[in-house]
Amino acid sequence: MAKAQPFDIDREETLSSTSFSAMRRLLAYARPHWSSFLIVVGLVIVYNLTQVVQPWLVKIVIDQDLLAHHPRLHAIAVVGVFYLLVTFVGLVSNFIQNRRLQLTGQTIIRQIRQDLFAHIESLSMRFFDTHETGRLITNVTSDTNRISLFFTNFLLSVIRDGFSIMLVMAAMLLLDWKLALISFIVIPVIALISVLFRNKLRYSYGYTRSQLSRLIGYTAENLGGMRITQLFHQETKQMDQYSKLNQAYTVGNVNEFRWSVLFNRTFDALGNFSVALMAWVGGLAVLHHAIQLGVLYAFTSYIRQFFTPINSLTQQWNTLQSSMISAERIGGVLLTRPEVVEPPAPSTTDASLGRGRVAFEHVSFGYQPGQPILKDIHFQVEPRSFVGFVGQTGAGKSTLMALLTRFYDVQSGAVTIDGVDIRQVGSRDLHRIMAIVQQEVNLFSGTVADNIRLFRADISDRAVEEAAEIAGAAEFIRVMPGGYRSWLTAKGSNLSLGQRQLLAFARALTLNPRILILDEATASLDSHTEMILQQGLTRIAEGRTTLVIAHRLSTIRQADTIYVMDQGRVVEQGTHQHLIELGGYYAELVHRSGPTADVSGAADFPLD
Ligand SMILES: Nc1ncnc2c1ncn2[C@@H]1O[C@H](COP(=O)(O)OP(=O)(O)O)[C@@H](O)[C@H]1O
Ligand SMILES: [Mg+2]
Repeated sequence: MAKAQPFDIDREETLSSTSFSAMRRLLAYARPHWSSFLIVVGLVIVYNLTQVVQPWLVKIVIDQDLLAHHPRLHAIAVVGVFYLLVTFVGLVSNFIQNRRLQLTGQTIIRQIRQDLFAHIESLSMRFFDTHETGRLITNVTSDTNRISLFFTNFLLSVIRDGFSIMLVMAAMLLLDWKLALISFIVIPVIALISVLFRNKLRYSYGYTRSQLSRLIGYTAENLGGMRITQLFHQETKQMDQYSKLNQAYTVGNVNEFRWSVLFNRTFDALGNFSVALMAWVGGLAVLHHAIQLGVLYAFTSYIRQFFTPINSLTQQWNTLQSSMISAERIGGVLLTRPEVVEPPAPSTTDASLGRGRVAFEHVSFGYQPGQPILKDIHFQVEPRSFVGFVGQTGAGKSTLMALLTRFYDVQSGAVTIDGVDIRQVGSRDLHRIMAIVQQEVNLFSGTVADNIRLFRADISDRAVEEAAEIAGAAEFIRVMPGGYRSWLTAKGSNLSLGQRQLLAFARALTLNPRILILDEATASLDSHTEMILQQGLTRIAEGRTTLVIAHRLSTIRQADTIYVMDQGRVVEQGTHQHLIELGGYYAELVHRSGPTADVSGAADFPLD
């Protein structure tokens, strides 16, 4: 099970055993690419050999040719050509190796990202209740990138640098083992200094990064709420807060930069010092004819060749750690199983759910354990009837519909359609027979027609237009510059709330659902548009079971049955007339809504 991870930027980034199992899981993605990795290792070996051979060639030239009594120019030329050849081979193998590794790494990451996205889409609503969108976006984008560093940086460095250090050491030992042993003294010193600095760097890097996420988070939140900010004149306050975060981020950056400059220069100085030491010790040896000049040259080159791989290797711990943490986060998401499970063998198809009799049988449900929201809901809606639900905000009306659409599963009791428990119905079949229109309408980037048919190619233009006509959306679509081809943005800012809702109606109607759910679907409509829709509603509802959560009483006055909800229970039910005569909670709601409520029927009074 995934831990619920709030968007916590300060979370202590440490490794646990789950990181390792998550990493192992992600490593499985690399398995199909083993041959590519093998090629990379081969090329790395070739490249490293070329690097070690070069100083050796120069040494040969110096000792055997240049310093010989009769320099053999011909031999020097031969070695020179060979040197060029080696350089060329090194260049090519390095290029191919890098390219191959990047390609493989990116292919693996693409697959992980793909699976992750598909998996998130398959998860149940409760997952989205407990996981912030911000964190999920990070998971899909930057966490996957950090994992790709494992393949492209960590693995490469461990193989290339490890191998390179060993080769250089071997070459030095072969040339002159005594001098080699002396120079090996500096290796632990370099490594130690690297590690010490790395820790410092890592800390300041982590600090800067968390400051950056705060800044980004704050900016995003602020831009999202710009209307409120300006309306309530919060600009100065918001600006102060922003300045603080901005300042902290700047300090972090400056700090990080200082440490990294300090580290690089120290490292350089250490390199120069080692070469000087070598020149001194080796120079003395040359003067005493203990070694040849070429050997000294080769040693000074080799000692420089130590620095790069050691530096890069010490960096890898950070890479490993950060990619394992990302792996753990992604693994956590990938290991989350959908809570609402598909029946293994659906006993029913949508065809056999013919009539649309909806029943709640002693249903209880809560979002959190111990906090029941719906308590023993028990009623049955006849096929093709039109029923309404009223009750104050928070009474549990929308939750009831979320159970019917199976965004969540009931905790006890059952929701049935035509006597079949909806847990026995495949979600595709279930959702083919029902449609829901809510107050909040999600639009996607695409044309008006795309948004009505939701990109389903099997729905013809004609069907789209017909649905729009019935929903009452056709009128405003016709006057849009592009008609049905007008482009809509995801935020839908080029449509009014009411227009968006009419689109949602049309969208629901393209399904020709047997069960239609309207959850305060007319709340954003102005009274004129609502009246148009109201007149159409009889036509829309015809031949289907229609469940309407009413925002205004007028919408459900004519309902076959009205269910009155209070604190998760159905407290009254019956026709409008019956409930008024009952003189109970419903009558009170109606009374509270306005003096004209039960006479005109056309009154415009919110029930909640
Ligand atoms: N996704 C959710 N997670 C946790 N609690 C929720 C969630 N959705 C609704 N609730 C809670 O359930 C109760 C009923 O909400 P809801 O069904 O939306 O009421 P209504 O639609 O009647 O206004 C409320 O107390 C609300 O806070
Ligand atoms: Mg609601």
